[in-house]
Amino acid sequence: MSAAAAIATGRPTGNLVSRGTWKALLAHHVHIGGQHLRELFAADPQRGTRFTLEAAGLYLDYSKNRIDADTLRLLVALAHDCDLPGRTAAMFRGELVNGSEKRAALHTALRAPASERILLDGVNVVEEVHATLNRMAALAGKIRSGQWLGHTGKRIRNVVNIGIGGSDLGPVMAYEALRHYSAETLRLRFVSNVDGTDLIEATRDLEPEETLFIVCSKSFKTLETLTNAHAARAWSLEKLGDERSIARHFVAVSSNADAVAKFGIAPANLFPMWDWVGGRYSMDSAIGLSTMIAIGDAHFRELLHGMRAMDEHFCTAALANNMPALLGLLSIWNNNFLGCTTLAVLPYDQYLKRFPAYLQQLTMESNGKHVTLEGLPVTQCTSPIVWGEQGTNGQHSFYQLLHQGTPLVACDFIGFCQTLNPLGTQHDLLMANLFAQTEALAFGRTADEVRAEGIAAVLVPHRVFEGNRPTNTVLAERLTPFTLGALVVLYEHSVFTQGVIWDIDSFDQWGVELGKVLAQRTAAELAIVREPALAHDSSTNALIRRYRARRHADPPTKRSV
Ligand code: F6P
Repeated sequence: MSAAAAIATGRPTGNLVSRGTWKALLAHHVHIGGQHLRELFAADPQRGTRFTLEAAGLYLDYSKNRIDADTLRLLVALAHDCDLPGRTAAMFRGELVNGSEKRAALHTALRAPASERILLDGVNVVEEVHATLNRMAALAGKIRSGQWLGHTGKRIRNVVNIGIGGSDLGPVMAYEALRHYSAETLRLRFVSNVDGTDLIEATRDLEPEETLFIVCSKSFKTLETLTNAHAARAWSLEKLGDERSIARHFVAVSSNADAVAKFGIAPANLFPMWDWVGGRYSMDSAIGLSTMIAIGDAHFRELLHGMRAMDEHFCTAALANNMPALLGLLSIWNNNFLGCTTLAVLPYDQYLKRFPAYLQQLTMESNGKHVTLEGLPVTQCTSPIVWGEQGTNGQHSFYQLLHQGTPLVACDFIGFCQTLNPLGTQHDLLMANLFAQTEALAFGRTADEVRAEGIAAVLVPHRVFEGNRPTNTVLAERLTPFTLGALVVLYEHSVFTQGVIWDIDSFDQWGVELGKVLAQRTAAELAIVREPALAHDSSTNALIRRYRARRHADPPTKRSV
């Protein structure tokens, strides 16, 4: 998009660093950069409640960031300068905010109430969304009640989702997160990796007669998913021995009806995906069919309500009180001004163990970009590297670096006031650890404090905690489908907010293409029995030759069940 075209669409132009609002933040950083969280808290006794927000059942405490009221004011001014409200409205209206793919990013329509109308090319997409939800509910209901029988008349007891990226990470994260609400009579498995081990281990104890596969692929072209789907089909047919069994044991979620039909799945078993929903924003579309089968229609709708509640908050709250916008702006502050190029996501809830992995794709595939919407090189570090682990496991692994390592890492802690699994005092212990970690990261322990404890002088430097590490804490009452929905959308819109500030396309993913193309070329070379002339670099050529020479050398013995 040219600068003139950008002006015509109302989108602000100009290099981020040349904006007055950016320069004001830079100047402010010089002033506040040297201040410690200890001083900031001492100067304002109300800070721990002042810098907090509540929305859609979530409580966000952002007081342990290296900010003051001026930082917030300047960040909000930057967001206005970058027209975050206008860009948000454009996204919700269905404008082509994904410029490089000329697509809308209308995932917010997936949780709109049936009464709403959102027109895209003259079609009310909300109507399609609800028609699909109703079809999903019908199938989920039949499977959960045992009405949907396999080819030999047996009840379906196993559901295997085959997909990768957004067609896997959202469903598996949601399934794990909401296991408490899942039907105990059903076993759910998720297969994503093209490594045969994934499918074999997922199916080794399953009966094909009792197993339904959901092949999830928006494009129905993804190598991993199609390879696994064909292998699953062979596994199923080997036992069931009849092509007609496919109709009872395979359903698909895709926008590519022709490819689904070619695979052998009947149109009645196809659930639509739309090109206006990005893969990493699709867990609440039919891609979430496995979630709905696991938790049931009513709980799935609760998840949608939680998402919708956060959408409404994002659209209506002033930026200074807007939870996703503030989370995104604080991330910009931590990343671009304080140099935190990574974000650790630390859920203190075992059920959220796949949440960091889910956020990795959401954040890094969205904002790991090197050019602006206009194709100009970005001037700032874009997406932080997202990683994490559920508490308290991480504490005995990488928290050493968080506390005393040289990189400054921003952390998001997530916890719940009530546990779903009361067991003695364990929840109190879990939460005590969460609170202790954010306190230690913020305030640390000075050399004087260490000395006062009688620590030998030689050990004092080792025992000092510098503190001043920025953290956010998200607290909710308990992990419910509603809360999970709100949490997911909190991050969706935080990611969007950051993308708007950097003026990048948060909805394309060209960066995954080159590897795919080269893998296809290499797969063809590996398939040839005699070595073809290899034309890679000398390293890749040598690796391929070594692999080819050794791959059949020592066939593994089959593991007995
Ligand atoms: O990794 C690239 C990607 O296109 C993701 O964006 C997407 O979620 C994933 O592959 C799976 O794509 P599909 O649903 O089309 O199989």
